[in-house]
Amino acid sequence: MGNKDIKKTSKERVFSGAQPTGNMHLGNYLGALKNWVRLQDDYECLYCVVDLHAITTFQDPKTLRANTREAAAAYIASGIDPKTSILFNQSAVPAHAELAWIFNCVARLGWLNRMTQFKDKAGKHKERASVGLYVYPTLMASDILLYKADRVPVGEDQKQHLELTRDIAQKFNNDFGVDFFPMVEPVILKEGARVMSLKDGTQKMSKSDASELSRINLTDDADTIAKKIRKARTDSEPIPGDVESLAARPEALNLITIYGALADKPRADVCTEFAGKGFADFKAALSDLAVAKLSPITAEMARLRADPGYVDGILKDGAGRANALASPILKDIHKIIGLT
Ligand code: TYM
Repeated sequence: MGNKDIKKTSKERVFSGAQPTGNMHLGNYLGALKNWVRLQDDYECLYCVVDLHAITTFQDPKTLRANTREAAAAYIASGIDPKTSILFNQSAVPAHAELAWIFNCVARLGWLNRMTQFKDKAGKHKERASVGLYVYPTLMASDILLYKADRVPVGEDQKQHLELTRDIAQKFNNDFGVDFFPMVEPVILKEGARVMSLKDGTQKMSKSDASELSRINLTDDADTIAKKIRKARTDSEPIPGDVESLAARPEALNLITIYGALADKPRADVCTEFAGKGFADFKAALSDLAVAKLSPITAEMARLRADPGYVDGILKDGAGRANALASPILKDIHKIIGLT
């Protein structure tokens, strides 16, 4: 493929990714995947399964391999078209790791020390965390900037990492006197960017929560979804006619948010629709909606699980296309910093 063919197209470029560390859940779907699907016709999109990020905490090799396929299947089942978008796994494009090293030499310790995700994940024993977990955000900056992506659709929790990506891009440009990396723009939905645990409305829905009842997995069947919604924590007050009145009711607000995001309706409209109703009625409606929206995804994932060769083929094709986009950019970076 000649250079002419791999030049950036006139469409702006989008990059995003998720870690293959277990079941993808409703938070991943509403905060990220749904937004990715929406962007694929208007942008040139790269969607990555970030396996190198996953190994910042120990992963059993067999499980990691299976989870990487499973994450790719979740992307496809959610509506990512692997012909339009580039779907690949991070380790299949070695330039990610190389640029991350270069960014380790650009980013400052003080910047990384401020990262709240490291503090949350490392907990009290940060000296026992891997060095990889600490420099996780420089690899993330590399994922995005390796393709000079303009926009990055993520959930709210990734905002700080994107600010760091901009700081790295800016410092690189300043240090070397170039206007090379773009200033990436996060694409964060107004509603749905922060889906909370079904058991505690102050904690985000997460793969690492010990309670299965805290999250809806994209692999859950209809009965499991219904059971989890039935058992979701709420309060005894009815649903108010306006969202503002939910400010001090995090669990209630979370269920309204989920309903709105699944139905593509503002939360205010959901409140108007259910005003005065109790949570028993609302949960029944939410359960029907969640099953209707998620079961086609679950079914498609099951189909793809039975055809691993198909998923592997898509990842391989995506890696080839991603490599072709990354190579000339990495070459330019080498030139800029004097590595050639
Ligand atoms: P990860 O794997 O934790 O999550 C993948 C995406 O799902 C979003 N998300 C949520 N959104 C709403 N509510 C929730 N409860 C929720 N939980 C997760 C995340 O915000 C994310 O968009 N560091 C990233 C992966 C990554 C990446 C990148 C993203 C690596 N390189 C480059 C964008 C660009 C992560 O751990 O996501």
